[in-house]
Amino acid sequence: MTNSGITIERLLNISSAPMELLQLADPSIEQINQYLQNGYCFVARAGSGIIGVMILFDQIASSIEIKNIAVDENWQGKGIGKQLLQFAESFALQHSYSRLLIGTGNSSIGQLALYQKMGFEISGIKKNFFLIHYSEPIFENGIQCKHMIMLEKDLSR
Ligand code: COA
Repeated sequence: MTNSGITIERLLNISSAPMELLQLADPSIEQINQYLQNGYCFVARAGSGIIGVMILFDQIASSIEIKNIAVDENWQGKGIGKQLLQFAESFALQHSYSRLLIGTGNSSIGQLALYQKMGFEISGIKKNFFLIHYSEPIFENGIQCKHMIMLEKDLSR
């Protein structure tokens, strides 16, 4: 897929996955490796450089989840995140999924805004998810990240 010089394509060789970028979205290397091994990894490139990444992960009930999405800090705020989300939606539709899921922390204010602007609706809360699954406390926007807010987009409409 190409849009304004950005290409998004599947990364088949996961040993060349951009770990620093993936860690912008998820501090746990163990989690990232698990998603890389069992999911679909896509990269956004500008020229030959990787500027964005996303991992999609098959779930039950015709659902697919965005387990990681990250854009290089120098490229944030330029619409690349939206392009990756649109790509995820197209991929999900092409592969006959009916729901696209994404989870984010209660402290991730910008991400919550972005996902809702892109048509995702809050569908649930995994209480204390980050306290249970992450050994180090996470703070963003002066708020402790404790709970995972789940959002979903119904693609069957
Ligand atoms: N309030 C309202 N809107 C906000 C906002 C806030 N606090 N913060 C961001 N937004 C909106 C912007 O206004 C913009 O929407 P607009 O174009 O309608 O103005 C949108 O969010 C950002 O869009 P875009 O430029 O496409 O996003 P991006 O390329 O910066 O990528 C992330 C978004 C989240 C992938 C990127 O910031 C990132 O990599 N962050 C670090 C990793 C991360 O947190 N990943 C997600 C884990 S759940």
